[in-house]
Amino acid sequence: MLALIRSIADMRILLTGANGQLGRALCKTFGYESVIPKDLPDFDLTHPNVEEEIIESAPDLIIHAGAYTDVDGAEREPDLAMAVNTKGTESIARAAVRLGSRLIYISTDYVFDGMQHIPYREDDRPCPINRYGLSKWKGEQAVLTSGVRALIIRTAWLYGRGGKNFVTSIMRAAQSEPVLKVVSDQFGCPTYTEDLASAVVSLVEKDVEGVIHVTNRGQCTWYEFAQAIVREMGFDRCVIPISTEQAGRLAKRPPYSVLSSDRLVSLGFVLPNWSLSLKRFIKSAYTPLRASR
Ligand SMILES: NC(=O)c1ccc[n+]([C@@H]2O[C@H](COP(=O)([O-])OP(=O)(O)OC[C@H]3O[C@@H](n4cnc5c(N)ncnc54)[C@H](OP(=O)(O)O)[C@@H]3O)[C@@H](O)[C@H]2O)c1
Repeated sequence: MLALIRSIADMRILLTGANGQLGRALCKTFGYESVIPKDLPDFDLTHPNVEEEIIESAPDLIIHAGAYTDVDGAEREPDLAMAVNTKGTESIARAAVRLGSRLIYISTDYVFDGMQHIPYREDDRPCPINRYGLSKWKGEQAVLTSGVRALIIRTAWLYGRGGKNFVTSIMRAAQSEPVLKVVSDQFGCPTYTEDLASAVVSLVEKDVEGVIHVTNRGQCTWYEFAQAIVREMGFDRCVIPISTEQAGRLAKRPPYSVLSSDRLVSLGFVLPNWSLSLKRFIKSAYTPLRASR
């Protein structure tokens, strides 16, 4: 174990998306001194020089978490989403091949269409139904066909410190709106960035390759997730269920995108249930203001 830990400490780890919510958790978990952070504005995945810039840093391991993550935005700017998520990933994979370094690509539950009623396994066929999912799936294919030694980690419904995410949106809304309307016909698994970052460290230590699903355990709807957030804040705000159609978002969403943890468990890792991790996050991120209850 000690030898493994030392080998991570000795690695040069290049991290894209370092300022994003997962990037921040990865920097903290791997240790700031171990990571070569890359993000906008200095590092742009759409820039023609990306491959050379990576080569210059000569990392042993690249963790590619940088992405265009605005799901509705990707319907309005499909070319940009594709340039960042697909073409950018192609450049990263090419650099990794030239360096002979390992690559971890962070992907998404939105590669699936959501028509299943049981958790998606790694070998289930992706069939994205929106531009964001398509751009990420093409990113996966770029990694798989490049010949690089890679691990594709599909995760879902991420939240954590320093990010714009569902939890922080609901926390903000709960402090100003009397009633919150939230979609109750999409199922997924909320995932805390700190839990995912710890799993990434373990997967690097074990040198796992291929495709793996990593989320917190359990499943819920966005409506149930919102209810839990408001409850953990100690509020009694009314959360009202609405349908996807009523929400009227630009991008289609998979109705069921729960990811199976079977492969992760078979490797000896178990992430906490989503509701326990949510408690931890809210405890660390929210100070109740008695007056606004
Ligand atoms: N968020 C989720 O619910 C979710 C679910 C499943 C999978 N994932 C995947 O998990 C990974 C991390 O997501 P996250 O939630 O941490 O996203 P995030 O907070 O949006 O972080 C993504 C980072 O990538 C940067 N970025 C965007 N365009 C770029 C470009 N052209 N060049 C370089 N960097 C660029 C962003 O910068 P700006 O902020 O300045 O744009 C941001 O710092 C992504 O690969 C995402 O696809 C996310």
